[in-house]
Amino acid sequence: MSGYSCGILTVSDKGSRGEREDTSGPNLNRLLTENGFTVVAYEIVADQPEDISRIFIDWADNRAIDLIISTGGTGVSPSDLTPEATRPILDREIPGIGEAMRQASLLKTPNAILSRGIAGIRKQSLIINLPGSKKAAQENIEAILGALDHAIYKIKGGSKDCGA
Ligand code: MTE
Repeated sequence: MSGYSCGILTVSDKGSRGEREDTSGPNLNRLLTENGFTVVAYEIVADQPEDISRIFIDWADNRAIDLIISTGGTGVSPSDLTPEATRPILDREIPGIGEAMRQASLLKTPNAILSRGIAGIRKQSLIINLPGSKKAAQENIEAILGALDHAIYKIKGGSKDCGA
C-alpha cells in the first residue's frame, strides 16, 4: 500500500457546466483509494489548456501531490487539448506509460489508438493523462497501476534496486 497522495482532475466542458455527471473522477477516486493512495484533491475543469496547466502546476509545485491524474480531453475532437496542456509543463516525459495504456487498451477496443494521453514528471509529481469515460479511464489506469508505487519512489530519488 503506497500511502502516496493523489489528485484527480476531470477535464470536461459539460461536466464543468454541471450538464453531465462526472462518473470517471469518483470511480478513479475509489480505485486509487483501494490501491493505497490518499486522494487529496479533486476538481472538474473545462477543456481550456491554460486552466488545465494552471491546476497541474499548482498541484505539483504548491501542494507537492505525488500522483496527478487527469481524465478526459485526450482524444481527437477539436476541444481535446489535455496533452497539449500537459506537455509544456512537464520536466520529463515517461513515454512507456502511454505506450502501455494504449497497448493494453487495444485488446479491448480499436478506438484505443485515439487516446493521445501522455505522462511525465514535474518536480516530484507524476502526472498522467487518462481518457474521459469511466470505462476507458479504469481500463487505462489498471494497465499501469502495478508500476506507480515504484515510479513515484524513484521520482523522489529512492535508491532501492529496481530488480528487488
Ligand atoms: N481505452 C480503453 N481502454 N477503453 C476505451 O473504451 N475509448 C477510446 C480511447 N481509449 C477507450 C480507450 C476512445 S473512444 C477515445 S475517443 C479516446 O480514448 C479518447 O478519449 P477522451 O477524449 O475521452 O480522452
